[in-house]
Amino acid sequence: MARSWFWNLTGLQHLYLAETQLYGQASDALAHMTSLQVLDLSSINMVMMTTSFRNLCNMRILDLSACQIVGNIKDIVGRMPQCPLKKLQELHLGYNNISGIMPNRTAHLSSLVVLDISGNNLSGGIPRGVGLLSSLSSLDLSSNYLSGPVPSEIGMLGNLTMMDLGGNNLSGDFTEEHFTSLTRLKDLGLSGNSLRITVGTDWIPPFVSSMVSVPRGHSLDGYIKHSFSGRLPLWIRDLVELRFLRLSQNMFFGEITATISNLSRLHHLNLAGNGLSGAIPWHLSNVTAMTRKYVKDYKVDSNYGDYSTVIRTYNFSSVVIKGHQLDYGIGIWDLVSIDLSFNQLTGRIPEEIAALDGLINLNLSWNQLSGKIPNKLGALHALESLDLSRNMLSGGIPPSLSDLNYLSYMDLSDNNLTGRITSGRQLDTLYTEEPSMYSGNSGLCGPPL
Ligand SMILES: *[C@@H]1O[C@H](CO)[C@@H](O)[C@H](O)[C@H]1NC(C)=O
Ligand SMILES: *[C@@H]1O[C@H](CO)[C@@H](O)[C@H](O)[C@H]1NC(C)=O
Ligand SMILES: *[C@@H]1O[C@H](CO)[C@@H](O)[C@H](O)[C@H]1NC(C)=O
Ligand SMILES: *[C@@H]1O[C@H](CO)[C@@H](O)[C@H](O)[C@H]1NC(C)=O
Ligand SMILES: *[C@@H]1O[C@H](CO)[C@@H](O)[C@H](O)[C@H]1NC(C)=O
Ligand SMILES: *[C@@H]1O[C@H](CO)[C@@H](O)[C@H](O)[C@H]1NC(C)=O
Ligand SMILES: *[C@@H]1O[C@H](CO)[C@@H](O)[C@H](O)[C@H]1NC(C)=O
Ligand SMILES: *[C@@H]1O[C@H](CO)[C@@H](O)[C@H](O)[C@H]1NC(C)=O
Ligand SMILES: *[C@@H]1O[C@H](CO)[C@@H](O)[C@H](O)[C@H]1NC(C)=O
Ligand SMILES: *[C@@H]1O[C@H](CO)[C@@H](O)[C@H](O)[C@H]1NC(C)=O
Repeated sequence: MARSWFWNLTGLQHLYLAETQLYGQASDALAHMTSLQVLDLSSINMVMMTTSFRNLCNMRILDLSACQIVGNIKDIVGRMPQCPLKKLQELHLGYNNISGIMPNRTAHLSSLVVLDISGNNLSGGIPRGVGLLSSLSSLDLSSNYLSGPVPSEIGMLGNLTMMDLGGNNLSGDFTEEHFTSLTRLKDLGLSGNSLRITVGTDWIPPFVSSMVSVPRGHSLDGYIKHSFSGRLPLWIRDLVELRFLRLSQNMFFGEITATISNLSRLHHLNLAGNGLSGAIPWHLSNVTAMTRKYVKDYKVDSNYGDYSTVIRTYNFSSVVIKGHQLDYGIGIWDLVSIDLSFNQLTGRIPEEIAALDGLINLNLSWNQLSGKIPNKLGALHALESLDLSRNMLSGGIPPSLSDLNYLSYMDLSDNNLTGRITSGRQLDTLYTEEPSMYSGNSGLCGPPL
């Protein structure tokens, strides 16, 4: 890298070398390319960063992501432009091996709009000085080893639209004060910390009309950390544009309220592994985005990836369906799914749910649901995976289930089902593949048992 011809082009304003085969130190010549406005060296193997950018007073965008930089954050920040007229707007340092404690003095960076130091080895706390980076619109400090409380100054960053502090070791309270001026926030990641969110249940965050990401338990160094608990926040009902809600593996308790039906565009609901109780609201049937008609009409909508319609969790690309954790990647946006497994839900399975005929995955296992399996479930023609195991369901297996032509996984084990087993080509095949699907129901009889 040091000996490339272009280092002599001192008038250069934009230099993109990302993902080229270059490696090694950026040439010292770089320090004199004072016309540079945009420099993208991402994914170049730089190892030690010795270049000084101090005199590059025209620099607006500096991208050093994934350069395998090993170094100390204080040293690296000290190499950034130090100019009377501050122009640096974007600093990307994500996915390197930068360690140390973030410096308190960052006045020379006060023009930053985007700061990304995610995926490094930062330790210590988030400095109070962060509140002075008042132009910030995007702050990503996720996946580091930051610890201690989050300074409430962070709530002063009124231009923030994205803030990800997930995957650290932050602790203490995250209060209403932390949200004071965050009126523009669309994307908030706090998962994988030990933060206590201490906002009142009736309190509505200033940015509620857009979206919020709520943490789920995230495995870090082998520890499952829970960071969000309490009742499902009431303001979820106002996120009427929401399409994807995954709050699994938290400590939510209380009931799933009927207001869930406000979320008519929701097509992926995962509240698995919480302490939710009470009945499954029949109002779920109003979530029209889970109907075949809606899926057919809107599936082509490529906006599925639009952050503003997603409650983001730490790793949203994977999902448990058909008994396996699958990495759905971007395809997850198409997966019409309800997963309420591993809660303490009681009462009947509302037969109204059969209106959601776009459903591909329905998992109500590990609850205390009782009553009969509604015969109407046979109307869920798109269903590929049905898990009602480990409840207290009684009565017979509805014959209509043999109408589910796409079904490739079913589990009814450990209930109190009785009567003859419904046969049908699809169900017989499933039994061959998964002979335990009826087990733990002492009252079932007939072939194939
Ligand atoms: C990061 O750098 C430290 C030295 O500061 C080194 O011990 C460690 O192995 C490096 N980690 C990775 C993942 O390269
Ligand atoms: C930043 O300031 C705090 C409080 O004054 C201090 O405890 C901490 O050590 C400082 N951090 C650095 C990196 O100097
Ligand atoms: C983080 O930095 C410390 C030294 O500060 C080093 O011992 C450790 O290996 C680094 N961790 C990783 C994951 O690179
Ligand atoms: C916040 O953003 C607005 C509009 O993008 C801009 O005019 C304003 O200067 C920004 N505030 C700060 C402190 O940068
Ligand atoms: C997390 O932070 C606590 C103090 O808040 C500290 O005792 C602990 O060692 C930290 N754990 C890791 C993995 O950094
Ligand atoms: C959500 O539903 C409740 C009643 O269930 C209603 O009062 C409220 O206005 C709805 N919110 C929106 C944004 O539609
Ligand atoms: C469900 O939708 C129907 C028709 O749009 C409406 O009349 C009803 O009030 C809704 N129910 C709930 C609980 O939102
Ligand atoms: C349903 O959820 C449970 C618990 O979350 C999980 O163990 C099971 O594999 C899921 N069932 C299917 C069919 O994916
Ligand atoms: C997301 O989950 C998938 C499937 O479990 C896993 O392979 C992948 O490593 C995870 N990604 C992250 C960033 O944790
Ligand atoms: C199972 O169902 C029978 C009636 O069909 C009922 O008498 C019994 O109490 C049920 N057992 C459980 C554990 O729910």
